[in-house]
Amino acid sequence: MNRRQALAFARGILADNNIDDASLEGEILLRHALGIDRVQLYADLDRDLTPSYEKTLSKLLERRINGEPSAYITGHREFYGLDFRVDRNVLIPRPETELLVEKAIHLAENHTITRIADIGTGCGAIAVSLAVNLPEVTIYASDVSKPALAVARYNCKKNGVADRIVFLNGDMLEPLPEPVDLIIANLPYVREADLTANGTLSFEPPLALNGGEDGLDRIRFLCRQAGTKLRDNGFILLEIGQGQAEAITDLLQEIYPSSRLEVESDLAGIERAVSLRLTLSRI
Ligand SMILES: C[S@@+](CC[C@H](N)C(=O)[O-])C[C@H]1O[C@@H](n2cnc3c(N)ncnc32)[C@H](O)[C@@H]1O
Repeated sequence: MNRRQALAFARGILADNNIDDASLEGEILLRHALGIDRVQLYADLDRDLTPSYEKTLSKLLERRINGEPSAYITGHREFYGLDFRVDRNVLIPRPETELLVEKAIHLAENHTITRIADIGTGCGAIAVSLAVNLPEVTIYASDVSKPALAVARYNCKKNGVADRIVFLNGDMLEPLPEPVDLIIANLPYVREADLTANGTLSFEPPLALNGGEDGLDRIRFLCRQAGTKLRDNGFILLEIGQGQAEAITDLLQEIYPSSRLEVESDLAGIERAVSLRLTLSRI
């Protein structure tokens, strides 16, 4: 079998097993099996695979067909144009979370923001993307999971921002050493009952997904505490799940009645980001 045939084989078997984006995923897994990049693959499609590479490819395809996400199989995921290592200790960063990063960069470009805290940093996708794009800002990145923080530290070094991010292990805002100008968080927001309903989610750490009965336990907790760790005129930027905007904006309005709230939708039209600017007259 040559590379062209292997590519068709991989794509076909994934499509037959109802894997979304079978064409792209087939290519990713073939490239991973061969240890080559896209250019190398397409430059030499007629080269034969050795039996050992064929065997490796078959094993990777089997894992994917059994529901394991390709990011865990390859150990990589691109986010905000950067390459992140991922393993089963961290959530695989989602494209919709790029909206949060975009909003944070916009805020930092238009307001005085010198310190940012990324709460629940996981693989460090948000913190590292902000550090790369906002070179003047100090960033705290916290997570309750030590194995997740080890992955985040690796990604921080790999993307050349090791001197710019302070990693903190602990519960929510508790380890933050000082108030910040922006608290950004993509916390777990999946309803407990939905966790087992989706096969893909079952490969990801429950700690990164489980938001309790209605999915909002962690986010509510953060909203209630954020005022104590925010500087005056500071911002909160939260990722939320489908259908959660009203509950979160009601809560924030109740806690911070004179603050300015905005909700923004992602590319799929789902309300995805809630932002709040804390005013001087806080409660
Ligand atoms: C949905 S994942 C988001 C990961 C990453 N920020 C991203 O956007 O890809 C939520 C993260 O919050 C962390 N987490 C869960 N409970 C926490 C808590 N009580 N305090 C701090 N972090 C927590 C999890 O370990 C996980 O890494």
